[in-house]
Amino acid sequence: MAELTFAEAINKAAKELHAAGIDDARYEARNLFLLLADFSSTDLISAETKLISNDLAISYAHAIERRCSGEPFQHIVGTTEFFGLSLKTDARALIPRPDSECVVELALEQLNHEHNGKVADLGTGTGALLSAILHNRPNSLGIALERSSRAASLAVENLEALGLGDRSEILNISWTEWSGWGDCDLIISNPPYIESAIIPTLQPEVRDHDPMDALDGGADGLDAYREIISLGAKHMKSDACLVLEIGYDQKVAVTDLLSSAGFIQIQHRKDLGGNDRAIAAKRP
Ligand SMILES: C[S@@+](CC[C@H](N)C(=O)[O-])C[C@H]1O[C@@H](n2cnc3c(N)ncnc32)[C@H](O)[C@@H]1O
Repeated sequence: MAELTFAEAINKAAKELHAAGIDDARYEARNLFLLLADFSSTDLISAETKLISNDLAISYAHAIERRCSGEPFQHIVGTTEFFGLSLKTDARALIPRPDSECVVELALEQLNHEHNGKVADLGTGTGALLSAILHNRPNSLGIALERSSRAASLAVENLEALGLGDRSEILNISWTEWSGWGDCDLIISNPPYIESAIIPTLQPEVRDHDPMDALDGGADGLDAYREIISLGAKHMKSDACLVLEIGYDQKVAVTDLLSSAGFIQIQHRKDLGGNDRAIAAKRP
């Protein structure tokens, strides 16, 4: 590989990724190269015919090999963008998905810009949802709950790196053990919601690299909703809002759970792909 030019190395890597079934092979080959070479796109245009150094060839081949074996692009790169923020991503927590941005939008619509109360994020993972809310509501305070100690440690790192550490508290506990429901004006959650039987059929990239605790929603995918909605109905304060991410086919089931528990003013939101993705409801 040492005798290849930059352009040839990227072309070769794109072919390898394509052969491994990666959809955006060229995009990923180019972006992994830019990252490892510490180049901008403009740097690359003026250097396409330069010969790749031995060290860069070795680290690039290693990154491409990891990607070909199914490791997610975001784990190799180590970051992902969510709601305009750069978040650290690795095997400790689920990679935040672009679909979840509409859940944050629906939550922000429930809080005026001057909001200075508390917001909680149940099952925070990387801290993505809470980070996006606190970044856009500069006077709000946040609490994130996360049962996995590994994910909780990543959330702490992300909130600190984004300058949100002094307005947030990360608790490494389950929402079933939490006593702060009544302190919050808004509670958001993207809980595990995949039916257990579907999990073996997921793409290997998700099945083998996102933590199982972040995916498995029990036999019908609704276990976490049942817990959160029944605890929220008992302990949330009057007029507080619950905002939930849902699977594309869970709108009716989760709406039924919310209205049976007494929640009112139920609103729905679709993601950019046109799938039902978020529900907001108020505790009367
Ligand atoms: C689908 S992931 C969502 C992560 C993040 N909020 C996001 O949107 O990218 C669900 C998260 O909930 C956590 N979790 C699952 N059950 C939990 C529980 N009972 N209490 C607290 N966290 C829980 C998982 O560890 C996982 O990090």
